[in-house]
Amino acid sequence: MHSDNVVVETHGAVRVLRLARPAKKNALTVAMYEALVAAFAEADRDDAIRVLRITGAPGVFTAGNDIFDFMQRPPTGEDSAVVRLLIALVDFSKPIVASVEGHAVGFGTTILLHCDLVLAARGAKFRMPFVSLGLVPEAASSVLLPGIVGLQRASEWLMLGTEFGAEDAHAAGLVNRVVTPEAMEEEAEKIAQSLAAQPKEALRLTKKLIRAPLREATLAAMQREGAIFLERLASPEAMEAFMAFAAKR
Ligand code: COA
Repeated sequence: MHSDNVVVETHGAVRVLRLARPAKKNALTVAMYEALVAAFAEADRDDAIRVLRITGAPGVFTAGNDIFDFMQRPPTGEDSAVVRLLIALVDFSKPIVASVEGHAVGFGTTILLHCDLVLAARGAKFRMPFVSLGLVPEAASSVLLPGIVGLQRASEWLMLGTEFGAEDAHAAGLVNRVVTPEAMEEEAEKIAQSLAAQPKEALRLTKKLIRAPLREATLAAMQREGAIFLERLASPEAMEAFMAFAAKR
């Protein structure tokens, strides 16, 4: 499925997905999730593609799920585009390189847990305000985040929705490298091309081995979180938070 807000490019063996809805801080609509699901499937199928790169627009990675979509068209379970994208991320067999500039909110941060190499530009801002929105963590972040950054830090980031910067993300192990915004595109492309130059089968098997012990736990966490997340979307706490956002309170 096509969306003008997800730009797909091919640089040799590297497929690049650019989130491109800058006027709305790249907030993700259902159409964008659908486009991402299709792009992931295509990149996985295409033998000529060895690496996938995901990035945002200058100054913003993504403000997470479109809150107006949450209100008007909440995801309805297993078939929803969001759930299909989560499964696509778990099943994707090739390395994923993410580069984050500006805001990475909600899924903008939790998607990184499914990427293999993450670059952040100086000044990048990460936040997972699920609780503040009356929601609960998603994308298996309740399990993967503590595994990467430690239980206490994950609890703080998820419970308080504390914003943290590129250096903190790097120190916590969520980000591989911090670069200047100017160097970001070139650096991300260089890393992706280096991965693409590695022996293809050894790379695929290595990704599989690294992720294998996490796979069942990741899928189980997604199921657990998903059921509660759906209930929370209809809760008075979430409604109040969404109305406050809409009213710019
Ligand atoms: N859903 C829908 N629209 C969003 C959005 C989201 N998640 N994030 C931003 N937008 C829209 C704003 O409503 C605004 O639209 P308008 O110009 O028509 O009023 C536009 O994008 C610009 O956002 P604004 O808040 O003015 O930009 P900012 O630079 O001051 O702040 C953010 C950027 C990302 C910090 C802020 O927009 C934000 O906190 N967004 C919500 C993030 C969020 O809670 N996501 C859900 C996670 S589950």
